Amino acid sequence: MRFDFVTIFPRMFDAFLAEGVIARGVKQGLIEVGVWDLRDYASDRHRSTDDEAYGGGPGMVMLAEPVLRCVDQIGSGHVVLTSPQGRRFDQSVAKELATKERIVLLCGRYEGFDQRVHDALQPDEISIGDFVVSGGELPAMLFADAIGRMIEGVVGNIGSVEEDSFFRGLLDYPHYTRPEELRGMRVPDVLLSGHHEKIRKWRKEQALRATLSRRPELLETAELDAEARKMLEKLT
Ligand SMILES: C[S@@+](CC[C@H](N)C(=O)[O-])C[C@H]1O[C@@H](n2cnc3c(N)ncnc32)[C@H](O)[C@@H]1O
Repeated sequence: MRFDFVTIFPRMFDAFLAEGVIARGVKQGLIEVGVWDLRDYASDRHRSTDDEAYGGGPGMVMLAEPVLRCVDQIGSGHVVLTSPQGRRFDQSVAKELATKERIVLLCGRYEGFDQRVHDALQPDEISIGDFVVSGGELPAMLFADAIGRMIEGVVGNIGSVEEDSFFRGLLDYPHYTRPEELRGMRVPDVLLSGHHEKIRKWRKEQALRATLSRRPELLETAELDAEARKMLEKLT
């Protein structure tokens, strides 16, 4: 799978691509990444990528021409435009996007892109939530991380991804590591028992408990087998 980030701040991606899940995927040859500096596609000697808004008003608008030129150069790919006005990103959107071979992520700044970027590319507009950040770079990295970790082999054990919160529609169960006792707080006995079946059931029940108390609405669409439904009956 390949991610192409289109940005006026390419250096923001240096740390992201040097460490972590995407960096690991790149090293393993499972992920390819391109970072495209929009200024390279500007048409004036100042390498401008934004201008004042027609009609006046505060804030600059990102020029359409450099974006369209850059996307032409990139070629094929599913174009995602980061925007607070897009559909809300979640685990199911990440799963859907993990099936694409190539994703082009457009990172806006200022007031966003000239409307003709939207009209010409008909991109998949995606939001990280109902709040506004200053640029599309952080949202784009966040999307790529969530999508990239679903690619088989990128995270050491795909089982850990499948047990993450939201993967099957439930929140994750609690995790413990050493020491067995810390400031009077003990690791639950079942986790020290070595009894795999009991541990599996405990974790499943804990995931249901967490979901029921924190995000009960998730239970309406979660994938629940007969055992989970029985556990849930007992909890409610
Ligand atoms: C300051 S924002 C522009 C907000 C725009 N004027 C609006 O109100 O819809 C600049 C850029 O940050 C990115 N951005 C801001 N909030 C975002 C969000 N919630 N999700 C995804 N991208 C976001 C987008 O790329 C956007 O073009």
